[in-house]
Amino acid sequence: MLIRGRTLSFLRKPESLDDHAAYAYESDGALLIAEGLILASGAYETVKAQAPEGIAEIDHRPHLILPGFIDTHLHFPQMQVIGSYAANLLEWLNTYTFPEECRFVESAHAQRIATHFFDEMIRHGTTTAVAYCSVHKSSVDAFFAEALRRDMRMIAGKVMMDRNAPQGLLDTPEMGYDETRAVIEEWHGKGRNHVAITPRFAITSTPEQMRATQTLIQEFPDLHVQTHLSENRDEIDFTCSLYPEAQDYTDVYARYGMLGPKTLLGHCIHLSEREMDVMSDTGSVAVHCPTSNLFLGSGLFPLKKLGRRAKPVRVSVATDIGGGSSYSMLRTLDEAYKIQQLQGERLNPFESYHLMTRGNAEALSLADRIGTLEPGTDADFVVLDMAATPAMALKAEVVNSLADELFLLQTMGDDRAITETYVAGKAVKTGL
Ligand code: GUN
Ligand code: ZN
Repeated sequence: MLIRGRTLSFLRKPESLDDHAAYAYESDGALLIAEGLILASGAYETVKAQAPEGIAEIDHRPHLILPGFIDTHLHFPQMQVIGSYAANLLEWLNTYTFPEECRFVESAHAQRIATHFFDEMIRHGTTTAVAYCSVHKSSVDAFFAEALRRDMRMIAGKVMMDRNAPQGLLDTPEMGYDETRAVIEEWHGKGRNHVAITPRFAITSTPEQMRATQTLIQEFPDLHVQTHLSENRDEIDFTCSLYPEAQDYTDVYARYGMLGPKTLLGHCIHLSEREMDVMSDTGSVAVHCPTSNLFLGSGLFPLKKLGRRAKPVRVSVATDIGGGSSYSMLRTLDEAYKIQQLQGERLNPFESYHLMTRGNAEALSLADRIGTLEPGTDADFVVLDMAATPAMALKAEVVNSLADELFLLQTMGDDRAITETYVAGKAVKTGL
């Protein structure tokens, strides 16, 4: 199949708004797709010349084709937690989030929510997500079964937590270890599924569970690891009181061998310079969750600062559903932009779209598979319409550059701007 449209794919991180060498843009471009992969991409005439005679063609012009969006941190059991009225993180967790996650002990409930979850991902143009399931293995099974059915590249893990939460949400160090191993054996590498080792955060794991986590990481060094770090001042204080031997919050994870290039740390808002150095030295990734940070009043993430330090910290951007308030990576980057504005920093549109696609793929060490339109990679991509609503169409009348178009889509766009989502070469949004 030949997909025609205006194509945009990043080659590397853009250094400025004028850094046109950072991306490949074709005003009349095409993708040649077969068996779930991109075989060729570039100018329409060039790609067409490589295609077999009489090939089926879909023309998305004048719309823009981008790699599918990547969301590097969210909670699948929190779809019904979105918009819960709380003063701060710990109140929000205890009042709404923990009770809601208890419901995922029921497979039928987990399966129902999994169906909705993948529908929302597709509706919003997110083709890969990194998810926390609940503590219950049944929730992980429901998640991965649905991911396999939809042939989507997903990363997810069974949450391990053995203290400071309701009884219905607690495992034990042994259970957390055994069930994580079982999940890896059953799901890792099945279809496009990846398993992440997922201790929720230091507050909800005993030192014994942290040691079991360390063992899992040593036994499965290629797997992603995900947890939360330095989101809220009370959370930081509580953590340091639980681990008095640690120098700071980051040191808690360092002591259990949890930092490294496959480790994704949600939030990282209030890190000291020492902690940033440790993040940098270990190649760990700080995952920025802007709508969540604003919604829970957690603080302003130093995105630009982390990138320009002498020891830069790898960064990524995510929705953090259900602390986050939108499934849309466009809405998410709009809020990321505003958080930088409040700190006197600029986040230009090319940087934003790089982050949603190739940047997040690199944060996951998966840029050889997703996040670009390069030949040989997975055919996961989205079609964007900058005139998707009457208000956007009116503004679009005065847009006359690619940067302005991207910025309009980010500032006013949401799921309505996603005309189509392709997963492994198949159009899956139309007909949802
Ligand atoms: N820290 C520990 N668990 C959570 C969670 O579910 N959401 C957020 N935002 N922070 C957390
Ligand atoms: Zn989270």
